[in-house]
Amino acid sequence: MTVRRAHIGDIDAIAEVDHLAGIDEERTRFIRKSLEKESVYVAIEEDRINGYCIFDHSFFSRGFISLLIVHPEHRRRGIGLELVRFVESLCESERLFTSTNQSNKPMQSLLRKMGYKRSGVVDDLDPGDPEVFFSKKVK
Ligand SMILES: CC(C)(COP(=O)(O)OP(=O)(O)OC[C@H]1O[C@@H](n2cnc3c(N)ncnc32)[C@H](O)[C@@H]1OP(=O)(O)O)[C@@H](O)C(=O)NCCC(=O)NCCS
Repeated sequence: MTVRRAHIGDIDAIAEVDHLAGIDEERTRFIRKSLEKESVYVAIEEDRINGYCIFDHSFFSRGFISLLIVHPEHRRRGIGLELVRFVESLCESERLFTSTNQSNKPMQSLLRKMGYKRSGVVDDLDPGDPEVFFSKKVK
């Protein structure tokens, strides 16, 4: 598996990984903007994009993963972990932050496995499902 920065030509392959990208205009716009800002990273196996993440330093100037998605047929094979590891190596701040819904146990397990600790919680983003923030000292 290799991980590299994505380019605009990857957009269709990314949409195949993420079913929301095809149907949710807001998600599609977000991915396109992030591609333009060179903030998208893709995991590639046998010339296929099987996962992607969006990472930049727009969160209080800290490294922040705003999205991490692995194709449903390729989960539990270490792709999510590799993507996070890759962007950790690019992080310019002392701590890298990310967040996920309280209900998202797979993402929380991945983060705990990688040494991330809970940093706080924000209500009122998704009604009834608080957003939990995690961070890890990467430098
Ligand atoms: C969360 C997600 C990115 C994980 O990707 P993945 O490639 O399957 O994760 P990995 O194979 O790298 O898993 C690494 C570790 O995370 C934990 N983990 C991952 N998926 C898990 C699950 N379904 N249940 C419990 N633990 C899980 C495990 O500790 C796992 O290690 P192990 O397989 O040795 O037990 C993937 O499930 C996904 O795309 N989910 C939908 C999108 C999403 O919720 N993204 C996160 C918020 S943006």
